[in-house]
Amino acid sequence: MNKVTTLKRSQQQNAHIGCQVNREPVQVSVAPGKTLLEMLREDLQLTGTKHGCELGECGACAVLVDGEPILSCLYLALEAEGCSIDTVEGMALDGRLHPLQEAFADLGGAQCGYCTPAILLTCKALLDKQPDPDRDQIREALSGNLCRCTGYQQIFESVEEAILRLDHSEQGTDLKSVPGSGG
Ligand code: FES
Ligand code: FES
Repeated sequence: MNKVTTLKRSQQQNAHIGCQVNREPVQVSVAPGKTLLEMLREDLQLTGTKHGCELGECGACAVLVDGEPILSCLYLALEAEGCSIDTVEGMALDGRLHPLQEAFADLGGAQCGYCTPAILLTCKALLDKQPDPDRDQIREALSGNLCRCTGYQQIFESVEEAILRLDHSEQGTDLKSVPGSGG
């Protein structure tokens, strides 16, 4: 009897939330104190989002909520109700890596890779708003993301290379859309 009462209480404590994760609708039952980081890793098995300090200091857990980088270790899953969440698993589209992912792989922006998912998403949020940031703007955007491996030089160079690739791919798209431009 006690067991049943305890179970009912714990069930009552859970709440169902609905949100979008990587463009797909999801429904999850979560305890009120569960963080978005825990929900992503434990309930949705999206382990690309990394578990670091859990104190808001390392930035390894960053994901995008409605396009803005947030620290998922400090963000309650319940707050994500109705929101659109992007994790690193959703960056590739139609089987193609995002240009940021390609540039990080090509230029050594990712070494052990622990900080990389959060850095990629933080940079994506920056480039979605500001397609041509300078080095200081990139540095400022990444000021909350700690990396123990790269010394940051390769990270900055990777972001700058991705900006060039994005720019070229957009020019390519524009050209293809001009009637009579061939193709
Ligand atoms: S895990 Fe370090 S800031 Fe979230
Ligand atoms: S690549 Fe290892 S912590 Fe950044």
